[in-house]
Amino acid sequence: MRKIVIAGNWKMYKTQAETQEFLLGFLPYLEERPQGREVVLCPPFTDLNLLSKSLHGSLIQLGAQNIHWEEYGAYTGEISGPMLTEVGVRYVIVGHSERRQYFSETDATVNLRLQAAQRYGLTPILCVGETKQERDAGETEAVITSQIQKGLIDIDQDNLVIAYEPIWAIGTGDTCEATEANRVISLIRSLLSNPNVSIQYGGSVKPNNIDEIMAQPEIDGVLVGGASLEPASFGRIVNYH
Ligand code: PGA
Repeated sequence: MRKIVIAGNWKMYKTQAETQEFLLGFLPYLEERPQGREVVLCPPFTDLNLLSKSLHGSLIQLGAQNIHWEEYGAYTGEISGPMLTEVGVRYVIVGHSERRQYFSETDATVNLRLQAAQRYGLTPILCVGETKQERDAGETEAVITSQIQKGLIDIDQDNLVIAYEPIWAIGTGDTCEATEANRVISLIRSLLSNPNVSIQYGGSVKPNNIDEIMAQPEIDGVLVGGASLEPASFGRIVNYH
């Protein structure tokens, strides 16, 4: 059975005070949520401990936005698996396009981070997606196939979530057509050996398009940036119809 996973990626937003305020507004929406939907929040590292304490016993899972492949060491600015699991983190986003674009992540480092996540018992959310230029040049399928094949070397598909995030749809309000997202996700599924991997869509997911996205048969959840920052909009998303 494919699990439905709805994750909020807060990127570099929210101090601890702002996180506390978000929770006050958001928790009531969780109580109405239909069963069987996993909700994950991926805040900045400084909010993890606070959220871990506040979410204790509740149904939100904690996710991080990155993980280094070493257990410890001289890697300024990085964070390791044991540091994340100690504060109750269960998921970690790996290979987000912002990491690939602005911080020179490659398929090889993405793969090392995925392996590390699994080594420490975390579920990695592997992000893949094409640029506008690649899409216009008819290269979407080749780009996605290559990212999946290189990213998944030596990865256990029993503990994995994938997010299809077309780069041109991220933060632009220019959502990918739900049927097109469904088509690419079905291509991704055809590359996997485990048919039960959950595959999310990400890129300008909003309260006004979530129902249509989740109505697609291949889409098992969403990775939400901007619309996860506000309790009412993320509340509507986790309560999609
Ligand atoms: P967005 O971001 O929802 O703001 O487009 C999605 C993401 O980057 O995961």
